[in-house]
Amino acid sequence: MAKKLEVRNLTISFRTNNGAVRAVRDISFDLEEGETLAIAGESGSGKSVTTRAVMGILAGNAIIEGGEIIYDGKDLLKIPEEDFHTLRGHKLSMVFQDPLSALNPIMRIGKQLTEAMILNNKERRADGKKRYSQMIRTLENNVREACQADGSQDAARLTESLNKVLNVSAKLENEWNAKFESMEELFPDRGEKPDFLRLAYEQVSGEKGDAYEQKFMLPYLAAAKKAIAYSNRKARSARQLACERLNDALPVFGTDPLDLSECRKAAKAASDAVEKAIDPLALQKDNLAYVYRSSVESGINRYAKGLQVNPKEEKRFAAETRKHDRLVEKGKFAPSVVPLNLVDMERVQKEMTGITRELEKHLGEIPEEMSDRDLEIRAKELLDYLQSCACNRDYLLSKAAARHHAIKIMREVGIPEPEKRYHQYPFEFSGGMRQRIVIAIALSANPDILICDEPTTALDVTIQAQILELINNLKKERNLSVIFITHDLGVVANMADKIAIMYAGKIVEYGTADDVFYDPRHPYTWALLSSMPDLETKEKLEAIPGTPPNMILPPKGDAFAARNQYALEIDLEEQPPMFRISETHSAATWLLHPDAPKVEPPAIVRERIQRMLQKEQQEGVQA
Ligand SMILES: Nc1ncnc2c1ncn2[C@@H]1O[C@H](COP(=O)(O)OP(=O)(O)O)[C@@H](O)[C@H]1O
Ligand SMILES: [Mg+2]
Repeated sequence: MAKKLEVRNLTISFRTNNGAVRAVRDISFDLEEGETLAIAGESGSGKSVTTRAVMGILAGNAIIEGGEIIYDGKDLLKIPEEDFHTLRGHKLSMVFQDPLSALNPIMRIGKQLTEAMILNNKERRADGKKRYSQMIRTLENNVREACQADGSQDAARLTESLNKVLNVSAKLENEWNAKFESMEELFPDRGEKPDFLRLAYEQVSGEKGDAYEQKFMLPYLAAAKKAIAYSNRKARSARQLACERLNDALPVFGTDPLDLSECRKAAKAASDAVEKAIDPLALQKDNLAYVYRSSVESGINRYAKGLQVNPKEEKRFAAETRKHDRLVEKGKFAPSVVPLNLVDMERVQKEMTGITRELEKHLGEIPEEMSDRDLEIRAKELLDYLQSCACNRDYLLSKAAARHHAIKIMREVGIPEPEKRYHQYPFEFSGGMRQRIVIAIALSANPDILICDEPTTALDVTIQAQILELINNLKKERNLSVIFITHDLGVVANMADKIAIMYAGKIVEYGTADDVFYDPRHPYTWALLSSMPDLETKEKLEAIPGTPPNMILPPKGDAFAARNQYALEIDLEEQPPMFRISETHSAATWLLHPDAPKVEPPAIVRERIQRMLQKEQQEGVQA
């Protein structure tokens, strides 16, 4: 499975008058294609802040202290505003807890949907144009270089013929789609999609029959295969050097204090070498390599900022503390001192060496050479890719088509009588129906990642179940990757593939749904599981005693220690690292240290696991 989204070492705080609120502290997770990741934890644990960072909609007082959010070979925290807008518009969509605030109260539902669609269409066209021209240029360059030796092909001629055919085929396909969309109700069975490339070729050349294969497809495949093999070989052979440069950089990034100019030199040499090891014709992006340059550059910049800011901040803190103490001594009122807010230089260095090491390892594992069959598949995928970019680029959404789409999507999300509802205002909808509309708007751009931030919390239980089912079905039908945020683990029991448990801005347990439900290891996960309502036993809930810590001054050790009946001495002193339990499962609790006393989960959790296993067995027998 391909990774859709990778979040690494994300750290976010908020500037406030009382000091920095450490809302998200060094979290990492990833989301694979077609997967549902649940992020669960009590209110205030940093779930919304995390996902708002992914969407690029953090409050103005937020500071991203570090980390990366990688999508499609780009770090969303570092790409230019206009690119980000395109991504947010049509690749990532979000559904919020409160549907009312997501809708404009004085605009008809239909218009809200079509406006979103028309805006997205504009962005999609621009994005298609950019991707199309980038890829066709890359292909042309590689064909030229690959053929320089034998001189058998003319790269310019290949792309010229490709361009002509793809332009016409995009036009035909868009016309066909538009026609069938408007006739869909009359002809629900739209049958096989025509071969638009063939039709386009015949139109361009005026020749029918074998000519398409002989004069277009075969020459294209031959040239594209050659180019793909060439660019792949070039990237493969550049890996060795990239590993060496990365290895050279490691000691430079590791010296304390950093020599900034040496660092910049090493980073540049390593990034240049890494970029040469990227295969530009590979459609599946190698995220780690793509974002390496921006990662180390931002690390160095953060370090440089620390050099400048930290001494000033320390001075300020010392002065304020002195003043505070003087006032206290005199028995006067002393306002509390804003805590120190330093750039954590050590962590910056650790991150830089961490990604460098990881990338070196990754590039060191050189994949096998591509077979002829691989090349053929890749050549065809490339053609499909170009065709879909061309279609996006040329597809102009009319108002009528937008209306048609809107009604279709309203039906898809389960709104009865969409033609009538289209003309109504948000207040005329019930809570559940409003949430469906918000989901429809989120889907209208055809995203590949859908983020749902407690989308059912404001709804009553039956409606909640319906919305969950809807999200689950949409995910399957559209092959969406979903991030689902909840404070109630019960909600995601049947829909999550993977679960991240958050506490006080950190991920404390991370694993597959089975790992977390059947083999939970962190006392906080136990507490969450104990407080989860159990429909079978109707047992009284065990609320988690105590409250989460103050995030302006997070505790020195394990943030959960104060509420944890299993806490060890070390929990008060030192933050536990993430202990790996299995390939998929890890948890940050000192209980997993080999020297820790063996502790069983509480009885209520063990019993629940027993019941779940029994139920599963019964269902297995029935099935
Ligand atoms: N704009 C802001 N300014 C200051 N603190 C904030 C801001 N937004 C969120 N926070 C704080 O960040 C922490 C995490 O919040 P949030 O991610 O909303 O929690 P939840 O897990 O309930 O979604 C909380 O302590 C919250 O008070
Ligand atoms: Mg929230």
